[in-house]
Amino acid sequence: MSVEINGVSHDEPPRPGQCLRTYLRQEGAFGVKKGCDTGDCGACTVHVDGRPVHSCVYPAFRAQGRSVTTVEGLAPPGELHPVQQCFLDAQGFQCGFCTAGYIMTTAALSDAQRADLPRAFKGNLCRCTGYRAIADAVNGVVNVDAPGQAGTAVGSGLGAPAGPQVVTGTARYTFDVEIPGLLHLKVLRSPWAHARIVGINATAALAVPGVHVVLTHEDAPKRLFSSAQHERAAEDPADTRVLDDVVRHAGQRVAAVVADTEAAAEAACRLIEVSYERLPVVTDPEAAMRPGAPLLHGDKDASFGIARASANVAGEIHAELGDVAAGFAEADVVYEQTFHTPRVQHVALETHGAVGWLDEQGRLVVRSSTQTPFLTRRALAVLFDLPLDEVRVVAGRVGGGFGGKQEMLVEDLVALAVRKTGRPVKLEYTRAEQFTSATTRHPFSVRLKAGARRDGTLTALDLRVVSDTGAYGNHGPAVMYHGCHESLSVYRCDNKRTEAYAVYTNTVPSGAFRGYGLGQVSFAVESVLDEVARRLGMDPVVLRERNIVRPGDDLTAPGAHADDLSIGGYGLDQCLEVVRTAARSPVEPHPAGWLVGQGMAMAMIATGPPGGHFADATITRLADGRFDLAVGTAEFGNGTTTVHAQIAADALDTTPDRIVIRQSDTDLVGHDSGAFASTGVVVAGKAVLLAAQALRAKIDAGANEEPLSARGHFGGTPRSVAFNAQWFRIAVDPQTGETLILRSVHSADAGKVMNPLQCRGQIEGGVAQALGATLAEHVDVGADGQVTTTSLRQYHVPTFADVPLTEVHFADAPDTIGPLGAKSMSESPFNPVAPAMANALRDATGVRFTDLPFTRDRIWQGLQR
Ligand code: FES
Ligand code: FES
Repeated sequence: MSVEINGVSHDEPPRPGQCLRTYLRQEGAFGVKKGCDTGDCGACTVHVDGRPVHSCVYPAFRAQGRSVTTVEGLAPPGELHPVQQCFLDAQGFQCGFCTAGYIMTTAALSDAQRADLPRAFKGNLCRCTGYRAIADAVNGVVNVDAPGQAGTAVGSGLGAPAGPQVVTGTARYTFDVEIPGLLHLKVLRSPWAHARIVGINATAALAVPGVHVVLTHEDAPKRLFSSAQHERAAEDPADTRVLDDVVRHAGQRVAAVVADTEAAAEAACRLIEVSYERLPVVTDPEAAMRPGAPLLHGDKDASFGIARASANVAGEIHAELGDVAAGFAEADVVYEQTFHTPRVQHVALETHGAVGWLDEQGRLVVRSSTQTPFLTRRALAVLFDLPLDEVRVVAGRVGGGFGGKQEMLVEDLVALAVRKTGRPVKLEYTRAEQFTSATTRHPFSVRLKAGARRDGTLTALDLRVVSDTGAYGNHGPAVMYHGCHESLSVYRCDNKRTEAYAVYTNTVPSGAFRGYGLGQVSFAVESVLDEVARRLGMDPVVLRERNIVRPGDDLTAPGAHADDLSIGGYGLDQCLEVVRTAARSPVEPHPAGWLVGQGMAMAMIATGPPGGHFADATITRLADGRFDLAVGTAEFGNGTTTVHAQIAADALDTTPDRIVIRQSDTDLVGHDSGAFASTGVVVAGKAVLLAAQALRAKIDAGANEEPLSARGHFGGTPRSVAFNAQWFRIAVDPQTGETLILRSVHSADAGKVMNPLQCRGQIEGGVAQALGATLAEHVDVGADGQVTTTSLRQYHVPTFADVPLTEVHFADAPDTIGPLGAKSMSESPFNPVAPAMANALRDATGVRFTDLPFTRDRIWQGLQR
């Protein structure tokens, strides 16, 4: 019996136990995605005889004799189904990895179901959009601007160039390519949080039919590196091996099996015998710094970039500006509190993964879901002692990153396997591996003491931060520095002190995550300032206005390790005015007897990372009059590709449809440090602008060389700052602790808003992701270091029903540094959300909540005090 897929009969029988998702992809339906393989995310939704099913939990054999429709077959070739057209018109996506699932679910909805979208979408998750754009798509709202005249693209709501591919399931993500002879890699991971590997017996594993090789620490390069990727590699401690003979967290790689099938590789993993010598475990960062604590990297010293390996300290700050003691002595009000933030996971819907092979010249090629193809290429070349041009890294469309893919978590192992076998090799993380073995946001403990005069003027800020970097130091020191910097430097205060530590523990490594430490420290700073305002009887907005930085101010903070930051444009005053206006609005209807309150918070963020971030762009005039734009940045849903097309089009006085973009392939385009810290717009965008302006000058001068092209380069410095403010009004049920968000308002200074449609989407998505971290999300680690949160069912990513509409307002304040006045706006919306909610809760309940997340239980318990 055969399966009919999109009207075509497929006779290949499914393998025993095979799910429909993998069967469909095996038969070429790459529009069917994997977000979890446990029925929780809906990315794999298809129709079986017209009914939507999660194909990852639908046995393939049950589809035999039935008609299966995937997103590719929803409409006749060359046409769009009305639902696909609606998602295109509304731009109901960002990375687009969830989009096929939403389209298939929507296409099967009855009118009655469409009237209740929170229920209709309970089986689908989107991590990028915050759901408003998806609701707009279902409701037929057209958000995308019609193409305008030449030279008018910047500032318009241009749709993503890849939109037609996203809505038809033909956009190509990492694994959406046929690779003949592909082998599969599976990882045996440590059950122990700290142990020395004494012996590995792979005899039985190697005997499993289809197994090609078992890789252990004896096969891996001795060279140490950091999985974190920065232009300046020395920012991260070199403390990691591809496969190590010491495991420092449960879930760390012990061995890798490469086999013909995933099933064979998994079976072989189960047969590997490993002897461990257990070592003492420390999971609490304060305990890890005490004398006598087990040392994770005691065999290394400062030459590896570790501040004090003898105390498990990866990085630290001890710095003071002014005289903090004198500042407190002159204060009329002093408030001090300690705050805690937990591990949270990025949950990009596309898990980490890479596939590698050797090309015809024997060069190593890695196709990866990465935000940093160029830095990953450099890291692989260094690791395997290869010339840079012997390595090629390509990113397809990336299914969400949020900082998590600014990390080399799979490519090194894939490269090792390719070099050992000479065959193409694929490694795709499971959702459980994302929780146990990828990275999380750094858990922070933040103590802040603030002093102020009666008029609200801050006299002293004293900050102590302990960040848990986990078993490895990837991003640990940099997140600590960044978190402590703009959260303090946004306020004028003569006396500031910072004591901060990024500390190793035997837990899953932390890493880069939207906000890069600012979300954690701003939670404390903005909560403490709220208490100071209360004690002074002062409007919290007025207290902010009395102390915020103004144009021309020095943005130095204690321990700052860069001096290229300045206020290139200033819209913070406008952001605060939006919040002030919202706070004066009448209270929304709410359940009787519930406690109502409101709260605000604000944040500043540098528009790029310190220490160098480079981008090259080249634009060439094509014979047909179009322009080829080569730029390194990967597109993972943040819209930089769209903005690059807009910038180039305006500079060349043409329309964006005439800009053909090549990107994120180290063979085809110039260097780019990566798509993080919103650098896609402010760094790569500036390189694009410079290239386009140079080409325009050549054209205007009548240059006639062929090909006619020009290059732009930007080194990422100087840097400006962007601002955000968030305000909530909430109602809290005193009987249960349930919190209702009555109104959510966000104001942002993004400089010149290059694409309001996309920038609004970034803010809505950032607020939604932050609401998840504020109200629900936490990755739990037991005392033995085991991660106990291993599925989306346990880890509550906000669903359609959980996310309120956030009203988004933009300041009108073009920047003098960013391209055409633009600033960054991808990660900063996250940062003020938790403290704004904390301040609203304080207003509603009288309780200062200090530990995230604010779950219903925790709020109820707070109300009982
Ligand atoms: S992949 Fe099937 S529901 Fe997530
Ligand atoms: S657009 Fe929905 S997960 Fe990225």
